[in-house]
Amino acid sequence: MEQPIRLDGARVSAAILEQQKQLCSALAVHGRRPGLAVVIVGDDPASHVYVRNKRAVGERTGLYVAVYTMPADVAQAVLLELIAALNADDRVDGILVQKPLPPHIDAQVVTEAIVVHKDVDGFHPYNQGQLWNGGEGFVPCTPAGVMALLDHYGLSVAGLHAVVLGRSHIVGKPMAALLLAAQATVTVCHSHTRDSAAVCRQADIVIAAIGKRGCVTEQWVRPGAIVVDVGIHRRADGTLCGDVAYDAVAPIAKAITPVPGGVGPMTIAMLIVNTVRAAQKAGCV
Ligand code: GUN
Repeated sequence: MEQPIRLDGARVSAAILEQQKQLCSALAVHGRRPGLAVVIVGDDPASHVYVRNKRAVGERTGLYVAVYTMPADVAQAVLLELIAALNADDRVDGILVQKPLPPHIDAQVVTEAIVVHKDVDGFHPYNQGQLWNGGEGFVPCTPAGVMALLDHYGLSVAGLHAVVLGRSHIVGKPMAALLLAAQATVTVCHSHTRDSAAVCRQADIVIAAIGKRGCVTEQWVRPGAIVVDVGIHRRADGTLCGDVAYDAVAPIAKAITPVPGGVGPMTIAMLIVNTVRAAQKAGCV
């Protein structure tokens, strides 16, 4: 089989961010930069790495970025007060509360506390409803990034059988909605699916968002399928890998995302896109 198309999220995201930088400069001429507030609770090392990345990319692109760090035992009421203040803060166009949150905090209550027009994560029930209904709203960044990456490479999913592995609020469910909207036939596999490997083998396109390192082997993938890896795991030696056994799957895939450098950078790019859009809508043009 010939070499698969390497879906290079690092390169595509760089091009998207360059466009966003121009938009930020244009907005800045009118007196105000798009603003992003990122809230992180506790000291999960992976979450801190993600937040540092979001800040760095945001600032490089020309956004005002404010990071709020709260202790793991913060009271939910205190977190809600911060969100209320950010809802009212004119410098802030987008609010992101990094997940996961500690178990004593009701993540849904926190999500619903963010005003819909600053919900750049697209997790608010209003934005979720808009996504399923084909209305206007913010789309969660990781699935939006996957669609933008496929689009960049001219890979249409119309008429394809798409299998989404995982049903999280952050990836699996909104991914299924976007694929459906793009005319794919969608199957979602999850922890109770009887034989995920057998279902996955029927896919023309696989989106792996299971959270299990190297789980998707060549036995799961039909030769010629498109394989998108949303997973991210750190090996003992510090290197990163995904949910897909890349070396085994790449030789039989039509196209495949690497980890790192695939979906990860696209997620951050979509966060910036959503925030700039929020700023444009907030009328600072
Ligand atoms: N944790 C992992 N991915 C995400 C994301 O896209 N948004 C938020 N808020 N938290 C996350």
